[in-house]
Amino acid sequence: GRVMVLMGGWSAEREVSLASGRAVLEGLLSRGVDAIGVDLNRAGARDLGRRLVNQSIDRVFIALHGRGGEDGQVQALLDLNEVPYSGSGMAASAVGMDKVLCKRIWRDAGLDTPAFAVVDGLAAAREAAETLGWPVIIKPTADGSSVGVSKVDDPAGVEPAFRDAAAHGEVMVEQFIAGGEYTVAILGQQRLPAIRIEASAEHAFYDYQAKYEAEDTGYRIPCGLADEEEARLAEAARTAFALIGARGWGRVDFIRDAEGRHWLIEVNTVPGMTSHSLVPMAARAVGLDFPGLCVAILEQTLA
Ligand code: DAL
Ligand code: MG
Repeated sequence: GRVMVLMGGWSAEREVSLASGRAVLEGLLSRGVDAIGVDLNRAGARDLGRRLVNQSIDRVFIALHGRGGEDGQVQALLDLNEVPYSGSGMAASAVGMDKVLCKRIWRDAGLDTPAFAVVDGLAAAREAAETLGWPVIIKPTADGSSVGVSKVDDPAGVEPAFRDAAAHGEVMVEQFIAGGEYTVAILGQQRLPAIRIEASAEHAFYDYQAKYEAEDTGYRIPCGLADEEEARLAEAARTAFALIGARGWGRVDFIRDAEGRHWLIEVNTVPGMTSHSLVPMAARAVGLDFPGLCVAILEQTLA
């Protein structure tokens, strides 16, 4: 049967998604999969059911990032149309996109995640920062790729950071954890190596520019941790992923502090699949090339 690769969408991560989707489409085609790519806009989403039937689609690879596509909406549409799709279902996708819901679930399960507060205005943001202690991270509770995310060192920085985040919806203030950034890719039951991310000194953290534009962001595989530490990190990633009900594939991001505690930052239920992206990097390290990875993700729709 034919596969539809959904990409684009209307979130702040549209451009990243177009890059992911084009790469996935090319990867699938190179392996002889009968696949078509669709740049999904809102009108297209309303019309998706008819299109699935007209084009005889029997599986969908979701390469949409952020709201509308990674948050359960498209998953629900596909459920209604009874077409299998890659990755997590509607509920896990919705939770995965909501950083506050994820953090509550993880915290209740006893996992480490930075302290936070949801704030409804500038005054509340200032108060939360004072309570949490400087520096803080101010960011939208949804969205990805670090869009609208700032590290704020002092009271003067709160206002611009709050406005920047608020442009993307609900805002949270989070305790800043100093340490190394690590990410763990999830691909079924396969064990993939963790990646250590080293944004260059001009970036206060692994921000949008460091993710997609900078040539000097360092990625280390093996990540440099002792085997038992990396195993502990991988286990935390699996637990965090399972706790929100996610399935198939994804990526879990952490900060490891000086004491070796692994702080959960977020889970991505449709992680980036661009040439700069991390899941493809981890897969490559175990001998799975990009087209092979696309096929492996697609095969999960049959499980
Ligand atoms: N949200 C981006 C696509 C990622 O996590 O890779
Ligand atoms: Mg994300």
